[in-house]
Amino acid sequence: MQKIERDVVIVGAGPAGLTAALELKKAGKSVAILEARDRVGGRTWTDQIGGATIEIGGQWISPDQTGLYSLINELEIETYPRYKEGASVFIDHDGKRTVYTGEDFPVGEATVGEINKLIALMDQLAAEVNPDTPWTHPDAKELDTISFHHWLESKTTDAVAVECVGLFIAGGMLTKPAKTFSALQALLMAASAGSFSNLVDEDFILDRRISTTMQGVSLAVAERVGTENIYLENPMLRLEWSKDGVVAHGKDVSVSAKRVILAIPPNLYSRPTFEPPLPRWQQITHQHQSMGLVIKVHAVYATPFWREKGLSGTGFSPSSLVQEVYDNTFLNDPRGTLVGFISDEKADQMWALGEDERKAAILESMAGFLGEETLSPEVFYLSDFGAEEWTRGAYATSYDLGGLHRFGPTQNDAVGPIYFASSDLAGEGYQHVDGAVRMGRRTAARIVAEFEGTEYDASFDGAESAFGALAR
Ligand code: FDA
Repeated sequence: MQKIERDVVIVGAGPAGLTAALELKKAGKSVAILEARDRVGGRTWTDQIGGATIEIGGQWISPDQTGLYSLINELEIETYPRYKEGASVFIDHDGKRTVYTGEDFPVGEATVGEINKLIALMDQLAAEVNPDTPWTHPDAKELDTISFHHWLESKTTDAVAVECVGLFIAGGMLTKPAKTFSALQALLMAASAGSFSNLVDEDFILDRRISTTMQGVSLAVAERVGTENIYLENPMLRLEWSKDGVVAHGKDVSVSAKRVILAIPPNLYSRPTFEPPLPRWQQITHQHQSMGLVIKVHAVYATPFWREKGLSGTGFSPSSLVQEVYDNTFLNDPRGTLVGFISDEKADQMWALGEDERKAAILESMAGFLGEETLSPEVFYLSDFGAEEWTRGAYATSYDLGGLHRFGPTQNDAVGPIYFASSDLAGEGYQHVDGAVRMGRRTAARIVAEFEGTEYDASFDGAESAFGALAR
């Protein structure tokens, strides 16, 4: 067992942990990162599959994500736009397929009116919610103890409008059924992206991609942190802690440090042994944050055949197995790639099938949007984060009904030398890489202020580095 000493030990080399390490290094502090996997990037992960570049995890960046933008600017990494030209496809409850343009789903005038009414209401409430402290909203308890589905039903009698608006947050973001999380949790999701309108506009929220892939951002940060400071295949199994510091025990390295940052998803906080155990409140709080489940489908074709038909590749259907489809062709790739999403209970059903049956069902559903050419991809791959021991779901964690206002206020409290940093605990950028970057920067700034005996500015939002760029 190797024994080393650092100012701060960081657990998890995802975007939050790596950004924290980079910031601490800029502030002149020594760091080591323990990472369970044999790679950095966490829920951002790129692989070559059948000769195609596949972004298995996070990939899109939107204009409001200024924390991530400032990091990639610092790293001199470019972005490129998602292909958006052409018409979209909508499949309704009866299986009727409509090709349409414009922002409104082709669901009938009255339903469009109800959908827009609900979106306006969500925008109004989201503007009242501070994403860092949603529990301070005057109606927080009321909004947190009704499911998003039932809250929508209390605002309209139009079932199709409820289903369509529910999809944006349930299937589209939290990847849990809309009956299992609260209206307040939905409002946090909306407020974290600036507004509900931003969230429902795929041209905004899925605006651009990273030219080196999203995992490439983590790889570039890792290089600046120094790969010699990152201990791969070293899950933290045990943490000894006291007011004076910690010893973090990995598989084959132990790090003594003054502080530790747990930059792992909250659903995994119970995995290492804490000596002594965490206080009552932290042991309980984080049990109420659980992972959603979504299958990200990748299908690569000889050409982007849908473009020749005047289609953008975008498709929506609240009732289909695959509820969203987009053109996901990688930068300068002459082939065409589609990405599709299968969420929550539909994902459960798919994992219950055999491989061939699952593939056939998924491609059949995607062909409903873009035609029978969809049935024969050259490469077919399913992202399966539910089976990943060091994530256990996708995209991220959210509270169960009533948990956000009850446990949220203490979710970011440090316990002695132990700090928590995860995009799942972020306000702005919640559940996104942007939130991970912000949390990394904020946590590093808190620790540096403590080391230096200065006042930490709690309004610091992590949109920019607190320490400038690293001298190289
Ligand atoms: P993250 O989970 O990324 O990293 C945590 C790290 O901790 C991992 O490397 C893990 O191995 C490690 N770890 C866990 N336990 C450990 C232990 N005991 N010891 C040591 N290491 C341990 N976001 C976005 O902005 N745009 C997008 O398009 C998408 N799309 C998307 C698709 C899919 C399929 C997924 C799964 C996720 C996304 N996301 C996304 C979300 C985004 O990927 C996510 O918000 C960030 O990766 C979270 O970064 P963190 O560093 O907080 O955690």
